[in-house]
Amino acid sequence: MAIRNIVKEGDSVLTKKCRPVEKFDDKLSQLIDDMYETMDNGGGVGLAAPQVGILRRIFVIDIGEGRLEFVNPQIIKTSGHQETNEGCLSCPGEFGITSRPMYVTVTAQDRTGKQFTLETEGFLAKAVCHENDHLDGILFKKHVIRMLRPDEME
Ligand code: NI
Repeated sequence: MAIRNIVKEGDSVLTKKCRPVEKFDDKLSQLIDDMYETMDNGGGVGLAAPQVGILRRIFVIDIGEGRLEFVNPQIIKTSGHQETNEGCLSCPGEFGITSRPMYVTVTAQDRTGKQFTLETEGFLAKAVCHENDHLDGILFKKHVIRMLRPDEME
């Protein structure tokens, strides 16, 4: 496994639409392992493939309840509303209050190609939306109601 370089805001790779994964091979497995390690090393709770310069539809999440990997994800249902603090490893030192759905149902594949459906809520639902947006070249700032001032961050 290896820690990969995290692309920062301003790099055009973060504005591009990612392509679906077609090959479920060792290379994909290696990439996902590297993404977990890179996310953990950066102190993040989620990481999408374009953030390590790979324009494929993959993201990983770990909000402290175990590792979750999503290949070719699709958000199939959202409901409710939450306004909470949010940041991104590609936008270091910046945080904002975002508007997101409270409940999100997502389907995806794992690294072997096995399809699954996950119903999420709260923090995990927000993370799924945030990471899924990266696959379409969208950063969290698009959903920000207001950015936090330096004295509001701890
Ligand atoms: Ni992000």
